[in-house]
Amino acid sequence: MNYYDENLIKYIDASVVLHPLFDEWMLIVEEILLNKEFQKRKLFMHHHNLSVWDHSILVSFRSFELARFFGADERVCAIAGLLHDFYSQVWLSTPEIEELEGGKYATLMKEKKPFYKMHAFTHANDASLNYVKFFPQLENKKITNSIKRHMFPLTLIPPRYKEGFIITIVDKFNSVHELPSLRLIPKIVKDKAYKLFFKKN
Ligand SMILES: [Fe+2]
Ligand SMILES: [Fe+2]
Repeated sequence: MNYYDENLIKYIDASVVLHPLFDEWMLIVEEILLNKEFQKRKLFMHHHNLSVWDHSILVSFRSFELARFFGADERVCAIAGLLHDFYSQVWLSTPEIEELEGGKYATLMKEKKPFYKMHAFTHANDASLNYVKFFPQLENKKITNSIKRHMFPLTLIPPRYKEGFIITIVDKFNSVHELPSLRLIPKIVKDKAYKLFFKKN
């Protein structure tokens, strides 16, 4: 299965590539984007048509931008944003993932597990361990904590550093924005209200 490509630009959203801060951001994250294990995230689905690769790049870049604005550590935000969903087990199945290396990325998905062990509660911790496994040279307490706590407030412990809060907020904002069904909510409410108040039948 062909997922690896050294030509990174082809796989990065145009809004990022055309941004004036793109080159500065790329200098920090290029080694991660070129990593073979990280490129498999092109095959991990995040929401609907968006892969974990696409989502992580957007969270990383927007967090990097906000870090500059708020005077936070830009490098930490770029790296933690890119690796915040670097978990080892998928939560959405695709034929490519079932095929990839004997299906080893989809084994947990098939197991029956209690509510508190569902992906939403466990993947942040999984990602915080996985990034150290594949990028030991990047290990840093702010990056680790920002990845581990990015599901706050669903998981109760908040991030310890402002960089972690930036990742958490950008991740939530992007995730909601990425869901077409959620984007339709205002229209659905408006249509229902119109029918209720203005239409007799
Ligand atoms: Fe996540
Ligand atoms: Fe995320």
